[in-house]
Amino acid sequence: MATTLSNLRLVCGTTHHAMAATIAAVLSCEFTTAEVERFPDGELCPRVGNVRGDDVFVIAPTGSPASEHLVELLLLVDACGRGGAARITAVMPYFAYARQDRRTRSGEAVGARVVADALVAAGAQRVVVVDPHTTALEAMCGVPTEMITAVPVLARALRADLSADAVVVAPDLGAVKLARRYSTLLQRPLAIVSKTRVSAEQVTAEGLVGDVTDRTAVIVDDMISTGATIKAAARLVLDNGGRAGIIVAATHGLLVGPACQRLEAASNGIGSLLVTDSVPPVYRAGLYVEVHTISGLLADAIGRLHSDQDLDELLMQS
Ligand code: R5P
Repeated sequence: MATTLSNLRLVCGTTHHAMAATIAAVLSCEFTTAEVERFPDGELCPRVGNVRGDDVFVIAPTGSPASEHLVELLLLVDACGRGGAARITAVMPYFAYARQDRRTRSGEAVGARVVADALVAAGAQRVVVVDPHTTALEAMCGVPTEMITAVPVLARALRADLSADAVVVAPDLGAVKLARRYSTLLQRPLAIVSKTRVSAEQVTAEGLVGDVTDRTAVIVDDMISTGATIKAAARLVLDNGGRAGIIVAATHGLLVGPACQRLEAASNGIGSLLVTDSVPPVYRAGLYVEVHTISGLLADAIGRLHSDQDLDELLMQS
């Protein structure tokens, strides 16, 4: 029998007010926009108001600038704890630092673990995250971590007028599991690109397994940051005989630095780009980005967690 813990309250700061407001409207629950004061030296000081006894969900994607948004989230969580919230869930539609899930060179940190520890230290009793870069987050966080997926949302949009000969392309080995989910939902075959990262902004794509010749490629990834990965994969698809009019779908459209310029270049053969609103959408002249909302998905997850129901159908599959 489902139980209701206490008053459901959503709290947001400055990172994605539109999404938090939409979720609150769907759930018809209490909604607080924290005042976030910025001191002259750059420090943030949020005030959340009265949350005493509430089941609080702090909605805060940590998109660019990641570190600043992360500190805001940690302070919001701490403020809710000190204000007497009965339970605090950090809802991170995009979880920054997840790519730092291991050291690739000596002298590096494991950023994902540091963020996970900081969330728990601040007082988060549960974390909700959408299509994180690594599923290792669940093991890293010392509190229950629900990893839900936006793949069905984007797959539904892709299915609308997808050609029968389309092929789903994983732009690197790390994206294979995600691409397999798209391939299953879209009932299209899979191709895989072998990618090497040269630097934070440069990659090379050396080989492609699978048949893309005369087909429409649907390149899928968890995130687009600088656009290097997608650009290299699109180039390789074209070099292997793929059709122009490539479709790109990614949960997190960070689109930072040179991304928009890279992806709008006609030579890439990219015809459309679909992302979700896990971070506030970026609008740039010349680049058409189709944004699909995950507010409904998050509202569903929060409603279920509040009333102690399971999330099975919303979770990422292994
Ligand atoms: C890395 O493995 C991720 O899944 C993305 O492919 C990558 O982070 C995207 O970054 P960028 O757009 O800068 O290539």
